[in-house]
Amino acid sequence: MSVITTSRQGDVLILTSDNPPVNALGAAVRQGLQAGIEEAAGDDAIKAVVIACAGKTFFAGADITEFGKAMQEPSLPTLVDAIEALGKPVVAAIHGTALGGGCEVALACHYRIAVPSAKIGLPEVKLGLLPGAGGTQRLPRVAGVELALEMAAKGDPIPASKAKAAGLVDRLASEDSLLADAVAFAGEIADARPLPIASEKPVTVDPAVFDAFRKANAKRFRGFEAPAAIIDLIEKTAGTPYAEGVQAERMGFMKLIMSVQSAAQRHIFFAERKASKIDGIADDIALRDIKRVGVIGAGTMGGGISMNFLSAGVPVTIVEMQQEALDRGTATIRKNYEATAAKGRMTPEQVEQAMGLLSPTLDFDALGECDLIIEAVYESMDVKKDVFGRLDKIAKAGAILASNTSYLNIDEIAASTSRPQDVVGLHFFSPANVMKLLEIVRGAKTADDVLATAMAVSKKIKKVAVVAGVCYGFIGNRMLMPRQMEAMKLLLEGATPEQIDRVHVEFGMPMGPFQMSDLAGVDIGWHRDPTRIENIRDALAAEGRWGQKKSAGFYDYDEKRNPSPSPRVAEIIEEFRQKTGTPQHAITDEEIVERTLYTMVNEGALILAEGMAQRASDIDVVWIYGYGWPVYRGGPMFWADTEGAKKIVAGLEKHGFDVAPLLREKAEKGERFNK
Ligand code: 3HC
Repeated sequence: MSVITTSRQGDVLILTSDNPPVNALGAAVRQGLQAGIEEAAGDDAIKAVVIACAGKTFFAGADITEFGKAMQEPSLPTLVDAIEALGKPVVAAIHGTALGGGCEVALACHYRIAVPSAKIGLPEVKLGLLPGAGGTQRLPRVAGVELALEMAAKGDPIPASKAKAAGLVDRLASEDSLLADAVAFAGEIADARPLPIASEKPVTVDPAVFDAFRKANAKRFRGFEAPAAIIDLIEKTAGTPYAEGVQAERMGFMKLIMSVQSAAQRHIFFAERKASKIDGIADDIALRDIKRVGVIGAGTMGGGISMNFLSAGVPVTIVEMQQEALDRGTATIRKNYEATAAKGRMTPEQVEQAMGLLSPTLDFDALGECDLIIEAVYESMDVKKDVFGRLDKIAKAGAILASNTSYLNIDEIAASTSRPQDVVGLHFFSPANVMKLLEIVRGAKTADDVLATAMAVSKKIKKVAVVAGVCYGFIGNRMLMPRQMEAMKLLLEGATPEQIDRVHVEFGMPMGPFQMSDLAGVDIGWHRDPTRIENIRDALAAEGRWGQKKSAGFYDYDEKRNPSPSPRVAEIIEEFRQKTGTPQHAITDEEIVERTLYTMVNEGALILAEGMAQRASDIDVVWIYGYGWPVYRGGPMFWADTEGAKKIVAGLEKHGFDVAPLLREKAEKGERFNK
């Protein structure tokens, strides 16, 4: 059966695409649409056409899986031009998301009708691309340059109401009668002439908007090629005829599709979706029902974790030992929600709704009614074992018992219960209500349905989850360790915190290792004995240089938290250089990359070989969503593939590191981690 079905209502021809899951505009869809347009052209009885989609969404874009293969005719640019040139009105009937090529099809239609819940966008930029089927040319003509810049360079879809206000949607349909409304609309405008043809509209623009837009978004676009290409293209073609503009767009698209950045960003698109697949567990396994969640600990972590569930409409019982800590935790949750509401991202009613789902209590036994209990107490094995021993006595049968530990052995924690099959690690990243990553730690005895339920829960709270095995620091923090260790050694050997951080920031990380320490707290994990000074970090902590919160850490900070190099830190480093008798040498940026980033790849290869990560792309997902690794470099393992394993091995050997056998094997065979 064709993916495009045609039907008629009076003199309106309806073309309906049914290409699950998202009606991507693959070859069969394009061919079907073209045939439909030809049918309309050749039949005088047809006065107007409606293009609609079955299933959950209007076309969500070009079929990304076709990229890099030979393009089958008609291409999307050819198809959209044919739609626009039909000579009879074509109406796009939009529900779900009209994205990328889907938005471009809609723009080529003469009219657009959408249900209020629909969203329209040009997300190509998120794949390192620019819209390649007329989007950069028709959108500015239809909705104005400013909105076109916003949509194409940032890639976030806009709701139908905003699209309507901007002229991108002509009419809103009723939520449950889109097709009927679209057909009625088509009937109304069937004879209206001239047809509104997007590509023929003039573009009016104040040339100052481009630089203003670049400036306003400089931080967001730093390092990315596609946003700059999109802005440049729209700027350059604003005064030119459509035919010229679209040709420039075509060339820009072809250039970006060959780029490493786009390959990296497309890799992450698929990696994120693959991460939710758990090896050895069937997709249709029966899940446990999670109606109420318990959180132990109302500190920063416990509070953040709770917010995820409250926001998703799941009731939370939060337990503390002292009334004061409980009150403080509850107040912080409220304050965070109110701050979100103040920014207009939540209504006051939604704040009250979320808070209404929270049950703060000092009564540990109240956790007995919870289906999933997440422990977020002090990071100590003894404390965790004690908590799980107590949970074992009061949790209901079948409840999932989770630990938010960042390093500790889940199997040892599980062994303090009589039900290790119900125990799993759920490692959230701080701030837990913001960071997208969740490491789901699979213990030796964790039951399949517990793991699958944890994965489903993570989707419900809008996290990107990755399954990790039991090892010290799991995937993310384990890879962080060699990086932090080498960064400290480099200081002793002659580098400065500023140089090391600069190299990381230039690489695209949001901050370098020392900026990160200052933000997180230099005192984290410190032994708290100011007389015991064994390394540079101890020395800083002993002097109260705990980072940004004390206006002093590896950097000095002014009242506005602007950092500057610290003469005192330079002195401390110098003292340690002398005390340890470390030989000095000039440290190049290249050496910093090799010792702090190649070592991460090396650790990643060990993690992979040990089966602590299911696949290389999962490691990439961890670093993108948990640590701000630049998405345009595709994560550490994808980056390793672009550097080449051979080069990485050579770099590691130069500095005397043990090379992970899997990395060496990749180098010898000329293979990639990500196929
Ligand atoms: N091409 C091919 N496959 C796609 C796809 C696309 N454009 N969009 C989604 N899929 C696949 C996903 O890989 C996933 O496959 P899986 O089930 O095998 O893992 C499946 O469809 C379902 O996707 P999601 O899990 O993401 O479903 P959601 O319901 O959560 O989200 C969505 C739906 C919002 C449409 C989301 O999939 C999305 O954002 N898709 C990408 C949209 C996009 O980037 N479009 C632009 C493409 S580039 C383009 O159009 C170029 C043009 O200008 C020439």
